[in-house]
Amino acid sequence: MSPRKQIERIPEPEVMDDTEEARVYDDADFSRVNLSCARRIYSWLETEKGHALDLGTGPAEIPIRLCALAPGWKITAVDASPSMLRLARARIKKAGLEKRIRLLRADAKNLGKLRRGFSTVFSNSLLHHLHDPIPFWREVKRLTSRNGSVLVQDLRRPPNRARARELTRIHTAGDPPLLKQLFYQSLLAAFTPSEVREQLREAGLDLRVRATTDRHLVVSGRL
Ligand SMILES: C[S@@+](CC[C@H](N)C(=O)[O-])C[C@H]1O[C@@H](n2cnc3c(N)ncnc32)[C@H](O)[C@@H]1O
Repeated sequence: MSPRKQIERIPEPEVMDDTEEARVYDDADFSRVNLSCARRIYSWLETEKGHALDLGTGPAEIPIRLCALAPGWKITAVDASPSMLRLARARIKKAGLEKRIRLLRADAKNLGKLRRGFSTVFSNSLLHHLHDPIPFWREVKRLTSRNGSVLVQDLRRPPNRARARELTRIHTAGDPPLLKQLFYQSLLAAFTPSEVREQLREAGLDLRVRATTDRHLVVSGRL
């Protein structure tokens, strides 16, 4: 029997600026994934103080968790969605972290306002939103300081729709229908590890790509 072909990618809208979508995302419990992502970022930090950059921060849960793990660090958190930034601002205020987390409305593919010098650049669940990820990777390369770390986590596209439906069943049980739909669409919009390796080659980035869970991939390394 010949191996089945990997399904084609179906991109989804890039910026999450639908108010209802942003609210449902903010209400969802991503605490396990977000905590493990913050711990993974923390494990790459080599100094007690530094400045990190989070691309596609959404409601800013990961930078808030990272601040708790790394008290000497400041974070610039970027998102292109005003709705998400509103939610992030409220969470940051509630956590009393206004002095440590700076929010910036900008496109992660074009961060001309920012200069190089971030000791770590990270991102969770942004990559699959991007229609063309190469400008994003070029910005990651430009903004990370020498010997700085990069950690990008995202979903990875399953081989077929049946597997995407199965993963949605497993990981969104009990969630509202809109969240189930967003998760399913995100799986179909995600890249495979080999597509990400190809993107990194094109952007001139020497980073490791690994499948870490049944639905995630992680890109990591030092520049
Ligand atoms: C799925 S959410 C992930 C949020 C957060 N990183 C987390 O893990 O909870 C993706 C976020 O990326 C943002 N986004 C999408 N395209 C973007 C772009 N080109 N520039 C900046 N932010 C973008 C969306 O608005 C959304 O808030």
